[in-house]
Amino acid sequence: MKIRDRLSLQFTGIFAVLLFLVLAGIYITTEKNRRIDFNDRLYDRALTVAELYLAEDNLSKEKFRDVQRKFPLFLPDEIIRIYDNAYQPVFIKQDEYQWPKEVIDRVVGHKQISYRLGSRQVVGLYYNDNSGNFVVLISANDTYGFKRMHELFIDMLFAYVLSLFIMFLLGRLFSRNALSPISKVIKDVKIIRSTSLDRRLEAKGSKDEINELVVTFNNLLEHLDQSFDAQKSFIANASHELRTPITAIIGDVEVTLAQPRTADDYTQTLNRVLNEAVKLNELIENLLEMAQTNIESGFEDIRLDELIWQVKDEWCNKVPGSDIELVYRLGPDIAKYTFPGNRHLLFIAIGNIIKNALKFSGNKKVTCTITGQAHATIISITDLGMPIPEADVKRIFDPFKRGTNSAGFPGFGIGLSLSEKIFRLHNVSVHVNTEYREGSEFVLTFPN
Ligand SMILES: Nc1ncnc2c1ncn2[C@@H]1O[C@H](COP(=O)(O)OP(=O)(O)O)[C@@H](O)[C@H]1O
Ligand SMILES: [Mg+2]
Repeated sequence: MKIRDRLSLQFTGIFAVLLFLVLAGIYITTEKNRRIDFNDRLYDRALTVAELYLAEDNLSKEKFRDVQRKFPLFLPDEIIRIYDNAYQPVFIKQDEYQWPKEVIDRVVGHKQISYRLGSRQVVGLYYNDNSGNFVVLISANDTYGFKRMHELFIDMLFAYVLSLFIMFLLGRLFSRNALSPISKVIKDVKIIRSTSLDRRLEAKGSKDEINELVVTFNNLLEHLDQSFDAQKSFIANASHELRTPITAIIGDVEVTLAQPRTADDYTQTLNRVLNEAVKLNELIENLLEMAQTNIESGFEDIRLDELIWQVKDEWCNKVPGSDIELVYRLGPDIAKYTFPGNRHLLFIAIGNIIKNALKFSGNKKVTCTITGQAHATIISITDLGMPIPEADVKRIFDPFKRGTNSAGFPGFGIGLSLSEKIFRLHNVSVHVNTEYREGSEFVLTFPN
């Protein structure tokens, strides 16, 4: 069911209950008033008859009929009886309607009673007179009142059904109006495809929820658009980088094969081919690692002091003659520098930074300091090479982007972007300290 229909139904439902309560309240009050009103009339009638008749001290049946005639305001289906002290009816024949003795007793006890008997209402009155005490009982049918109540009921029912119908229509109109901006958003969103991510939804100046939704959606589109672009340029860059060494290899081999060469020439060519193949291999390895960050997900508890030691060990072996110093400033609490993460990925990420430090400093001394702080463990990696220009800091983490200081150093510009991706996955922040003048400093913050 659409929200629009659900809203109008709920709206009508609530209104139906409320209206029912109000109408029922009015009906019950009116019915109560009718009863009180009719009781009053019965009471007045009983009193008048008793006064008129008993005041004359004449208890004959003919006289009573006379009084009844004199007092023409009959109530519908009226039955009126007067009983004396001995519960004996006066003025009426024994076979006519008699009230039970208990009722007469109740009148004597309470002086005045009223109750309902089917559709009839009964009023009883204890009347003191100089000729004795009498009980006057009167009952009648409030036909006129019931008729009015019935009419009221029909009117109310009609009004109820009609108002519900109107309410349902109004509810639909209202919800359609309220939801029309959403329908518009849906219509606009339907048009957007991966090829039209540059489209944006039209945002209004108002600060309502729908506008907020539109702005949020536009932000998401912006984000998607950017990552699609990044994706595209990544592929373009990767293809370009892969093609460069292959073109060099093909060119070199073709030239060499064009005519017979000496063994020396072949050796030189093969060496150049080997060189390019090694670069190619490194690039492919980097790309594979990049792809791996999307697949690897196994997290385990890693002791950062051990991890950094393993990375250092690896790079000392890979780059002969390198000098990597480890400085530990950790407290006794091991839990503080135990970090949940993917060992393999973090190994690659920290390794890339150490590799850069060795490469861009020409194998000068690299220092890794691991410091325990209250809410984080900090790993700082410094080298004695050159500082990173402040303007470069923003882009060196983008794939295939290299700093202006990288001229003359081999590389593709993938290392830091890969590291940054891995650190982001682990909620680790990377900071390049541009104040550091002796070389460069990378500061990694592992939150506790
Ligand atoms: N230790 C460092 N010293 C100086 N510059 C650095 C250092 N580490 C990174 N850079 C700069 O960041 C850029 C990006 O690094 P990276 O992504 O690893 O690419 P690559 O090493 O292939 O150049 C480098 O080209 C360089 O300009
Ligand atoms: Mg690098």
